[in-house]
Amino acid sequence: MNITNTIKYIGVNDHDIDLFEGQYTVPNGMAYNSYAIIDDKIAIMDSVDARFTQEWLDNIKAVLGNRKPDYLIVQHMEPDHSANIENFVKTYPEAKIVSSSKSFTMMKNFFGDDFADRQVVVGEGDTLSLGTHNLTFITAPMVHWPEVIVTYDSLDKVLFSADGFGKFGALDVEEDWACEARRYYIGIVGKYGAQVQSLLKKAAALDIKTICPLHGPVLTENLGYYIGLYDTWSSYRAESEGVVIAYTSVYGNTKKAVLKLADKLRENGCVVIVNDLARCDMAEAVEDAFRYSKIVLATTTYNAEIFPFMREFLSHLAERNFQNKTVAFIENGSWAPMAAKIMKGMLEKCKNLTYTDTTVKILSALNEESMSELDALADELCGSN
Ligand code: FEO
Repeated sequence: MNITNTIKYIGVNDHDIDLFEGQYTVPNGMAYNSYAIIDDKIAIMDSVDARFTQEWLDNIKAVLGNRKPDYLIVQHMEPDHSANIENFVKTYPEAKIVSSSKSFTMMKNFFGDDFADRQVVVGEGDTLSLGTHNLTFITAPMVHWPEVIVTYDSLDKVLFSADGFGKFGALDVEEDWACEARRYYIGIVGKYGAQVQSLLKKAAALDIKTICPLHGPVLTENLGYYIGLYDTWSSYRAESEGVVIAYTSVYGNTKKAVLKLADKLRENGCVVIVNDLARCDMAEAVEDAFRYSKIVLATTTYNAEIFPFMREFLSHLAERNFQNKTVAFIENGSWAPMAAKIMKGMLEKCKNLTYTDTTVKILSALNEESMSELDALADELCGSN
């Protein structure tokens, strides 16, 4: 695949992966992107996952023919991209490695070798000329590790964006970009909104025609759409109006309350998403929580705590700096309900949350009182007009 006349795609598709980064299901696989910039000098942009060594080295050979790379540019040291640095060095002993100083420290930790004899250390604003292509390196700490750099090619106006603008899914499967890019972003980079904002500010000063991320498709058209979504996500603004109901239910009574509330909200004309946290994809539920403007958290008191899936869910939200949302609670407890208090406590460090006046309290099963609380909550969240 040609990105431009002199920039070629040399990445791989992974359809055998079990869990990406040890936790994310990827039903449509994963792509580990890598690129070759072919000029007077040749630069390879990042490597790929350990299971694709030969395919990647073959891809390099296929686009270079008899020529050899002069540089391996390492933008990110997470092993899905860095695993083949050593294999590259063995195959091309004369090539240099271009990366941030933090990356070389990580190479020593990962491989026991920081390749001192071939290091080119780069930092903010440093440049590398390949001939006609002039590369500028921009630091992007915590997008998504501290050592990350992104690279701008001023000839073809390409931003090599590391994990930024990446998504789940292999490149030989067609699917909506936003859905899997959002799940990827919120899950993997979501905590680092401030750092993404600062990278977006640096990127705004560049004339970008193409974005080449390390996962997902190369972006060539309508870049404002993708950059706009990244701005929304990284500033923790709700992307869509709507109510997410995230719940757990042991014997079905909490679920009954949730479904009744969902019906009432829909009758009032609201968009409603219902996620059973014991059964849905947790990353999808976390994505929905960040995407929509309002959330209802419904769970049972359990071991003087809350049901485990809700505890896990709330940990995911809090550690990703969940904020700027309206939050409501439904608690269920047969003798000492305390779920609402515990859930609120888990969110206490989250900024700018607005809690509804109504909390629905269920004592084992819905009754007249809790039903009328559901009505009040529905009106508060989404009053009938
Ligand atoms: Fe695609 Fe942060 O590694």
